[in-house]
This record gives sequence, structure tokens and C-alpha cells, in this order.
Amino acid sequence: MRVSTLTGSLLLAATPLVFAASPSDPVKNAIYKDPKASVEDRVADLVSRMTLDEKIGQLMQGDMSNWLNINTGAYNRTGLEVNFEYKQGSFYVGFPILWSWMLDNVKRGQQYLVEETRLGIPAFVQTEGLHGFLLPNATIFNSPIGFGCSFNPELVQKAADVIAKEAAAFGVNQLFAPVSDLARELRFGRVEECNSEDSFLAAEISTALIKGFQNRGVAAMLKHFVGASGPEGGINTAPVHGGERELRTTWLHAFKKPIVEGGAMAIMSGYTAYDGVPTVADHHVLTDILRNEWGYKYYVMSDAGATDRLADAFKICPPKNTQAGRECITKKILEAGNDVEMGGGSFNFRSITNLTKNGQLDIAVVDTAVARQLRAKFAIGLFENPYASVPTSQVNRTVHTERNLAVARELDRESIVLLENHDKALPISKSAKVAVIGPMAHGFMNYGDYVPFQSSQRGVTPYDGIKAAIGANNVVYAKGCERWSNDDSGFPEAIAAAESADIAVVVVGTWSRDQNELWQGLNATTGEHVDVHSLNLVGAQRKLVRAIADTGKPTVVVFSSGKPITEDWIANSTSALVQQFYPSEQGGHALADVLFGDYNPSGKLSVSFPHDVGTTPSYYDYLNSGRSWPDPGKEYENGTLVFGHNYVLNNPVPWYHFGFGRSYTTFKFSNIKLNKKTVGYAEAQKDGTITAIVDVTNTGDREGQEVIQIYIRDLVSSVVQPNQLLKGFKKVNLKPGETKNVRVKIDVSDLGVWGLGMKYEVERGEFEVAVGSSAVDIHGTAIFEVV
Ligand SMILES: *[C@@H]1O[C@H](CO)[C@@H](O)[C@H](O)[C@H]1NC(C)=O
Ligand SMILES: *[C@@H]1O[C@H](CO)[C@@H](O)[C@H](O)[C@H]1NC(C)=O
Ligand SMILES: *[C@@H]1O[C@H](CO)[C@@H](O)[C@H](O)[C@H]1NC(C)=O
Ligand SMILES: *[C@@H]1O[C@H](CO)[C@@H](O)[C@H](O)[C@H]1NC(C)=O
Ligand SMILES: *[C@@H]1O[C@H](CO)[C@@H](O)[C@H](O)[C@H]1NC(C)=O
Ligand SMILES: *[C@@H]1O[C@H](CO)[C@@H](O)[C@H](O)[C@H]1NC(C)=O
Ligand SMILES: *[C@@H]1O[C@H](CO)[C@@H](O)[C@H](O)[C@H]1NC(C)=O
Repeated sequence: MRVSTLTGSLLLAATPLVFAASPSDPVKNAIYKDPKASVEDRVADLVSRMTLDEKIGQLMQGDMSNWLNINTGAYNRTGLEVNFEYKQGSFYVGFPILWSWMLDNVKRGQQYLVEETRLGIPAFVQTEGLHGFLLPNATIFNSPIGFGCSFNPELVQKAADVIAKEAAAFGVNQLFAPVSDLARELRFGRVEECNSEDSFLAAEISTALIKGFQNRGVAAMLKHFVGASGPEGGINTAPVHGGERELRTTWLHAFKKPIVEGGAMAIMSGYTAYDGVPTVADHHVLTDILRNEWGYKYYVMSDAGATDRLADAFKICPPKNTQAGRECITKKILEAGNDVEMGGGSFNFRSITNLTKNGQLDIAVVDTAVARQLRAKFAIGLFENPYASVPTSQVNRTVHTERNLAVARELDRESIVLLENHDKALPISKSAKVAVIGPMAHGFMNYGDYVPFQSSQRGVTPYDGIKAAIGANNVVYAKGCERWSNDDSGFPEAIAAAESADIAVVVVGTWSRDQNELWQGLNATTGEHVDVHSLNLVGAQRKLVRAIADTGKPTVVVFSSGKPITEDWIANSTSALVQQFYPSEQGGHALADVLFGDYNPSGKLSVSFPHDVGTTPSYYDYLNSGRSWPDPGKEYENGTLVFGHNYVLNNPVPWYHFGFGRSYTTFKFSNIKLNKKTVGYAEAQKDGTITAIVDVTNTGDREGQEVIQIYIRDLVSSVVQPNQLLKGFKKVNLKPGETKNVRVKIDVSDLGVWGLGMKYEVERGEFEVAVGSSAVDIHGTAIFEVV
């Protein structure tokens, strides 16, 4: 360890600088340095030693690009010192840089803080980790909306373990993930980042991700708290409407388990306002509910630039970059319970000094915020392990390994959903001649947002995957059209390709970009700030599918997308329809595994597919009294109009329901029952459970997995409840002819209502337990009663 000379620019002029390594070090035997002391004692001890400036420093985010030139790799020591003068709590490292630059400069930052600052407090080293660690050449996983379709939290946790291991190899100890926002507003660009439309499934997947990250010493930052994915008009960052009951029943439900049971070490607040209150300054949500009701001990951080929005977007503070604006923003946010300010804005927290000096802000509020973040640092073990988990020489043995890629492929293929399969068109025989067609089939990787810059050039495309499965000689490829164009001049080549083959695989869909390209404004149809007015295929893609289907060759359509596509005519006008939400870098292999039957598809939709954007919302858990008059009309492709009423020319009942997905085999559900008929009222409020029991048999001729889904209806309730709610599921593997007795335990305390007076209660009376293979394919029901 170095004994430093006095670096004057470091920290704060008024603070006498004493370095951790100095022999007269007064913090050497401090309680906070003692790994055996309790986290609470360490936090209290450390906070008591901190100057106001050191506290403020913990509450603002630094940025590695302040000391690393991300274009040349040049290191700037002065930049590092200036960065850490006021921003020491965390630093952002999400840049498209070489591995060695990352390794060296994360270490430089952390080493400076640990060894050259008075108290030696390590930083949270932060980046994105939505579906892979955000560094070029790290393993790219499929998108969260796909994770939901796997209905396999154990496998998702395995993926999270890989992601965290890769991050930790570089000294990154915090990821801005998972996302427990809900895919309920399909026009919104960030649907692909959500696990599901359903709060139970979303919570299970987020909890698995958090465990996977945090078991590896990488802290999760669960986002975006709360309601961010339901903006008015589907427009990014627009206000979210809803009341307290909806907030608690739906939006908060998706966060509670990941926070309370998953133990998320941090939470990111949102850009949006819910019912008129910006979430970044919502005391009711951030303090009354999160801290006082849920007992959350760790910290909340704002999103990039989100604090400034109190001034420039919401107009509830004077202009940013004025003293009055800064002070208003800081006071509102800190007092509400948003503890740490991310960069990307004007660093309003600099005004904490003035606010506390002139008595407008209680220092106790600052101490509480600092303590929450430090608590997370102690709990995740940062003081004991501030640096990368593997030596530089072994990074290549940790990151992007064969094993990591195998996990990506496994999760990807379990996320693929088979929607139609007429006349057993799938699986395709490996000796068939296959035409691979469509703009999403090759030429770039159709990843979701939050992948590293220019990742779209790296990965296994559908064409690559199909060639790898059956050999290049039996595969022809034609793009047919560009994804962004109505130009159909490529159709003849695509039609000829189809005609020359036994079967055509047409890959069409939506597309996104990495964040650099998205914010540059390059064309895309999904992703952050890319919102749509229509869920139909864009450009010539619909016509391309029609043209290939019209050749008379069996046509398999693959939707490669970040959200539902509403071309319902494809269901019965083509041979098969497969949904692959934005893939992993092994996506083409995963798809081929399914198409050729090396893997029997087991994915189930994590989000309902409407017929058309005008028929949304399509989520399955609409409130009782919703969709009561199903009298659909239809406009046929041949122009025939059949008039209905709800809707006049369409149908509010989804095209494909939540939880739906086909298999190459068939399953039978029998002997559906419950382990008991009643649950006592008191028990129901706290730890009562009920177990649904069902025999599931594979009645087909292939091994396969089925997801047993348990939906609950509260038959009579004091307020209007969702017509049904998923409250349990289990994925089981069955050999042909095999029967398994499946038991799914349901938490009865999770079946309560936010009644009149907004008190949570599991009400007395009957509940119907429906056992199904989708929200509407119910194979049997049983009733129990809370007495
Ligand atoms: C290094 O950082 C300092 C402080 O931010 C800055 O003034 C200076 O221009 C940087 N030097 C280079 C070469 O980028
Ligand atoms: C990623 O890997 C490729 C192939 O090994 C290499 O050419 C490229 O430089 C790597 N990119 C980065 C940023 O490390
Ligand atoms: C603190 O107050 C002084 C005196 O009014 C002012 O000059 C300074 O800009 C304030 N600092 C911040 C960060 O607002
Ligand atoms: C990892 O492997 C790549 C290419 O295989 C090589 O360029 C790079 O230097 C290696 N990195 C380390 C840290 O060994
Ligand atoms: C869409 O973006 C691509 C670059 O990825 C560009 O080549 C193409 O011209 C753009 N098309 C339109 C219509 O904007
Ligand atoms: C496809 O045909 C089936 C069977 O006739 C029908 O039940 C289904 O509604 C049709 N799907 C669509 C989207 O038209
Ligand atoms: C149009 O299609 C519908 C549905 O297939 C069919 O019932 C109707 O007869 C067709 N009308 C004409 C004029 O072909």
C-alpha cells in the first residue's frame, strides 16, 4: 500500500487528510473496519466519523470516463481526483471499451478510494446488466420479456450467476437490474425490458435474478420504482395514471417480493410521476410504504438525470442550475427517501451543504441516506472485497466461456414460445431443404436494448443457427426486404428461395439498438424512448410473409421481437408461428434447437398478444366487470365486414393468452385437488398456505416440459378485484407416457385485497383455484374457504 503524499485536490480542503495506511492511522482499529462487527455497528461507527463533505460525496455518482478517455484508453490522474472530490459513493463504468481498460481503470478508481481517501470507503462500481454484463464481448443473454416466458426462475438464476461472475471479474459490483416494471402498456418502448405483464411472474423472475447476482457479491439495483412502464399514451416518461389500490395491487406487488425476500441491495426510482407525484420525490411510496411498511433498509438511487425533471419536466421546482432549483430538488428528493443522485444531470446534491447550514435540511436526513447506502456496501461485502474477483490473467477463463454460452442458449430456447403448429409442420426434418427468409434472419443480431455498442455484429443469427443444425448445403437465404423499408424489390429472390426449398422459415419482427445507437436517433421500433402507435409489422414485412405463404410451400413464421406483434391473420394462413423475444448471442442455435426438435418448446407467453393496438390493454388480469360484452366483429382480409359491438370490427379477447404456448407433445391434467378445504382467517393473514395437487401426464411421443399454472379467483370481495391472478406455477419435465404428481404451494397471505379504507386483508369466503396451462386453458378447479 502506498503512503501517499498530500494530494491537495483530494476531497475537501477543510478536512485533514489521514491515509488508511499511515502508521498513526486513527481509523485502523475502527469498528467499521472490523468484518466481525455487526453491519449496524459498522454503519453507525462510520457515519459518526464522516464530515459533511464526505457524506455528500457518498450521495453522488461519479463516472469512470472522468479518468479514462474511452476512445484512446488514456488515463488521467487529475480527472480521477476531480471526479472523486465530490462523487465517491459510486461510479458508472458502462462504456464500450477494451477489457484491459476496464480492468485497469475500475481498479484505479476503487484503489484510490480505498487507499488514498481518509476513510477508505469503497464505491459501488455500476453498470447495466439487463440481459448480460454491459461490456463488449461479455455474454449476451436474451431479453427479460423472454426470461418471463421460460417460467423457470431456477434457470434465470443460473443466468444471473453467469452475468454476475462476468461483472465481478472486472471489479464491477453493482448492476442496474432487474426490472420489475410490468409490460401492461404495449406501445411503450421498454416492454422488452420487463419480465411480464403479470406481477407474480415478474416478481419471481426478478427475485431469481437478484439471488443470482447477489450470491456472487454483485449488488442488484431493482428498477424502476414504481409504475414506470404504464405511461400515458405509451410515451416514454409520460405520467402514469392510477390510484392507490391499483398501485398496491399491481405495480407494487411486482416489487415487494424481490425487495423483501430477494433482498435487493438497491432500488432505482423512476422518471415518471404516478397520480401527479414524481416517483423520485414520492414520500408515500419511498418512505411510508418502502421503509415503514416493508422495512427496507438499503438505498434508493435516482435514474440518470431524473432529479432535474422536478424542474424541467414536472415544473414543481424552480429551474435547474439555479441555486433555488438545486435546493428545491435536493430537499424534495432526499426528504422523500431517494437517497442517492445518479449522474446525467446537474448534481443537485451539491446544495446539501447550504441546505444543512441554513437549517432547511435536517442533517439526520443526510445521515439516514448515507447509512442506507453504507449498509448495502457492508452487507454485500465491499469493505472486505473491493476489487475484482479474479486475477487479470484469468479473465478469459471467466468471461464469455463455453459454459456461459451454453447457459445463454439454454435460457434462450426455454424462452421460445410455439404459437401455432398446423399439421405438425414443426419440428422440421433435418434432411429437408430450408429457405431462410426475412430481414431478421441474418445480417445483424436482433438484440434488445441495453447491449454494448455495436453488439449487433456479434452472435449467431437464425440463418447461422439453421446452417449449423443441418449443414449449409441444405439452406438458402434471402432477405426479402429491409426491416425499415416498404421496398419489395427483394421479393422475387425470396419467393424463388422458398420455391426451391421444402419449407420456408420467415423471420420478421421489431428491432431495437444498443443505447448509443438509440440515443443517436437511428431507426428502431422498440427500446428506450422508442414508442409505437401500432403493433403491426413495419414496412414490407407483412407483404413478405404473405408472398412466401402464397408460394404454397409450408411456411414457418418466426416473430423476432421485443413485444407482441398483431398480425393475427398469420395464425391460420401459415404452417407454424414461433415467438422468439429478442435473443441471446446464441439465439440462432436456440431457435434451430426448437425448429428441428432437438429441444421441445416449453415457453409460455409472459405477455398477452392483442389482435390490434386498439384492443389493448390485453393483460389477462383485468378487473372484474372488464371485457363483459364479448361480441366481436371482424374485418376479413378479403374485405368482408362482419359487425359486432365490442368491438365493432375487432375483439378485446386476446389473440394469444397469457401463459399460452404449445409443445411437440401433449399433456393431460387429472385428479386436480387441494390439500385442504379451509384456511383459518388468522393463519390466512400471515403464513397460511394451500397446495394445489394435480397429476400431469405426457400423452404424446416426445419428452417435454409443461408449466402448471395456478390461477386464483376471489369469488366475493369487498372491492373489485382482478378476475383471476396467477399465484403459483411449476415447470416439470415428463418422458412420453410419464405421469408426475405435481404440488404447487400457494401463499394464502398473497390473496388479500386492498379493501375499503386501503387496509390489506385476506377476506373470509371462497376462493377458486384453477389449474391450467394458460390463463384460459383451465383443466380443473377446486374451492377453498377462508373461515
Ligand atoms: C484530465 O482531467 C482534468 C480534470 O477533469 C481536465 O481538466 C483535463 O482536461 C483532463 N485531461 C485530459 C488530457 O483529458
Ligand atoms: C471482441 O472480440 C473480438 C474477437 O475476439 C475482438 O476482435 C474485439 O477486439 C473484441 N472487442 C473488444 C472491445 O474487446
Ligand atoms: C451556497 O450558497 C452560496 C451563497 O448563497 C452560493 O454562492 C452558492 O452557489 C451555493 N451553493 C450551491 C451549490 O448552490
Ligand atoms: C483475452 O483473450 C483475448 C483474445 O482471445 C486477448 O486479446 C486478450 O488479451 C485476453 N485478455 C486477457 C486479460 O488475458
Ligand atoms: C435505418 O438505419 C439504417 C442504419 O442502421 C440505415 O442504413 C437506413 O438507411 C435507415 N433507414 C431509414 C428509412 O431511416
Ligand atoms: C384460427 O383458426 C382456429 C380454428 O378455426 C380459430 O379457433 C382461431 O380463432 C383462428 N385464429 C385466428 C387468429 O383467426
Ligand atoms: C371472405 O372471407 C370470409 C372468412 O374466410 C368468408 O366467410 C367470406 O365468404 C369471404 N368473402 C368473399 C367475398 O370471398
